[in-house]
Amino acid sequence: MFPDYNNHMSSSARISRRLTQVPASPIRKLVPFAVAAKKEGVHVYHLNIGDPDIKTPDVMLNVLRDWDKNPIGYDQSQGNPEFLEAMRTYYHGLGFTFIGTKNIQVTNGGSEAISMALFAVCNPGDEVLTFEPLYTNYNSYAVVNGVTLKGILTSSDTGFHLPTRDVIEKAVTDKTRAILICNPNNPTGTVYTAEEIRMLVDIAKEKGLFLLSDEVYREYTYDGRTHVSLFTFMQEIPDKAIVLDSMSKRYSLCGVRLGTLVTLNEEVLSGILAIAQGRLSSGLVDQAIAAKLTDVPDSYMREVHEEYTRRRDVLYDGLRSIPGVVIPKPEGAFYTIVGLPVADADDFCKWLLTDFRDNNETVMIAPAAGFYATAGRGKNEVRIAYVLNTAAITRCVALLKTALTEYGKRKA
Ligand SMILES: Cc1ncc(COP(=O)(O)O)c(C=O)c1O
Repeated sequence: MFPDYNNHMSSSARISRRLTQVPASPIRKLVPFAVAAKKEGVHVYHLNIGDPDIKTPDVMLNVLRDWDKNPIGYDQSQGNPEFLEAMRTYYHGLGFTFIGTKNIQVTNGGSEAISMALFAVCNPGDEVLTFEPLYTNYNSYAVVNGVTLKGILTSSDTGFHLPTRDVIEKAVTDKTRAILICNPNNPTGTVYTAEEIRMLVDIAKEKGLFLLSDEVYREYTYDGRTHVSLFTFMQEIPDKAIVLDSMSKRYSLCGVRLGTLVTLNEEVLSGILAIAQGRLSSGLVDQAIAAKLTDVPDSYMREVHEEYTRRRDVLYDGLRSIPGVVIPKPEGAFYTIVGLPVADADDFCKWLLTDFRDNNETVMIAPAAGFYATAGRGKNEVRIAYVLNTAAITRCVALLKTALTEYGKRKA
């Protein structure tokens, strides 16, 4: 139980009510059980978090190997000029030649870009529309910024694609300030079509809303799909469009905490720069590493893409052959929401770590309830990140198949 936070007579220091409202990450909350299993000598396969085993490009690692700057000081608040220039080149390479370095704010991971964007477009109590299941940390950043996240439900029956314009417009209230999408989507793996993005742009225009597009998995689309970036429409809604980006997944740089927030809206940029000045700078070493992105060979990007495609195929083919498992074919990113024949996925995921062993191995996956903004949703679903090699994924599928049978018997 929490102490009584409203008891102003108490002499003890009190934490804020909003601190108690930040949800525990469903990706990390089972970690103590995984740690305990590992202490027992059990091998735990991690499909619970998007921290890939793909190698970082050598041209980037060489920056660390050759490092000779001393001291390691601050960098500029907007971002290191070389890194900004590299990002501009990258966006131009995608065809968006209207982006200048002045439109790019460097952030401490895509995570900070999300938080800054919510802070920039909402006053406390305002609402942001998004689509459920959603990237779980949107929930955390909404609480941190005093924003109410309203989740519009998408379903595995339609591959988690967007509902009709009518459904989305009905969810808009006088408190709604923005629509937030993740494309390609974590956790569903959905890649929105040009028509879907066009529809959101039209709604943003008509209702006077910001449109925030988290595109950290831009490169990962499968089966010949092309990614339709919000950049495509940015000049049409220059004051409303904000793209959120990250280096973490594109170059396997999760530990280099870098992302960008990109917009043509100068008011947003200057406000965000003020926040960036308040937190001084992003990492000098991190930006020096990431600035090498223009030297990453095309072959690296191609091979990584092929590897994720293989992993997706192995996971999808394996899981859909298990009775009772519902898995739409992931279209992009490296995640999928999977319906399981269990009543309480939270309990199942925990049981995998505390009780289930096969040849002294088990698998860690994330219960999906935390990937919804609406309480009560996703109870029989899990989110799986296909971030391990194909042999490991094949083994994980076998583990899940055995585990589901054993868990079913246990509950019967
Ligand atoms: C959809 C999405 N957005 C943003 C992020 C933030 O990543 P980072 O802070 O590592 O750049 C993640 C990380 O998993 C993500 O999946």
